[in-house]
Amino acid sequence: MKIYRADNYGDLSKKAGEILGAVIALYPDSVLGLATGSTPVGAYEILVQKYREGLLDFSEIKTMNLDEYQGLGREDEQSYAYFMEKHLFSKVNIRRENTYIPDGTNLDEKAACEAYEAVLKRLGAPRIQLLGLGHDGHIAFNEPGKSFPEGVHCAELNARTIQANKRFFEKEEDVPRRSYTMGIGNIMRAKSILMLVSGAEKADIFREMLYGPVTPRVPASVLRFHPDVTIIADAAACGKL
Ligand code: GLP
Repeated sequence: MKIYRADNYGDLSKKAGEILGAVIALYPDSVLGLATGSTPVGAYEILVQKYREGLLDFSEIKTMNLDEYQGLGREDEQSYAYFMEKHLFSKVNIRRENTYIPDGTNLDEKAACEAYEAVLKRLGAPRIQLLGLGHDGHIAFNEPGKSFPEGVHCAELNARTIQANKRFFEKEEDVPRRSYTMGIGNIMRAKSILMLVSGAEKADIFREMLYGPVTPRVPASVLRFHPDVTIIADAAACGKL
């Protein structure tokens, strides 16, 4: 595991954008695993900037996203599909048919999960999987629990995550209670992982994932078993190390 300490969020985003940009430049037909949340927004901005400068070509890139809220579709502003469109897809020359995200509008949970699992199998392991870190140690929507879920599943959001994510919604009641998410097994199959951690409110959980026991009670701790993980954390997130 490599950990880069960034001075601040801007520095973190620049480093992350450089790494993702290098992957795209070196392997322009890569499968990329993408993430949502506030943390990767700056890295996506760097990628868009590089694209505008003519340094990157997304025409053969394929993407698979980690997760999606159940019940929300592409046109819902809070959906992760909308987020990806807004922050990246609409700003680069990626082909929409090459972008994959669980179908939040499919309320048949079994069918929705099986369909996305089939997509992941067909695309194969991503060359790089981008990850954020939830306040309770979750990755994607794998919340603290008794075991590490292997495949795509429908997850119940816990109270802490609903609290953290309500900032994107008008009121707390609007935050969907369930989501479709890659499992820990899906995430661990990525050839490499790039995790971004920003802000003082992540400092305690960041310390725990690195130095506490590897346990499903801190889902991100499992990354210590992955052979190729890079973490970029800003000074505030490193505050308790
Ligand atoms: C959400 C997402 C995660 C994300 C996490 C942290 O719940 N499902 O994939 O990593 O929150 O988000 P943020 O970067 O906004 O702190």
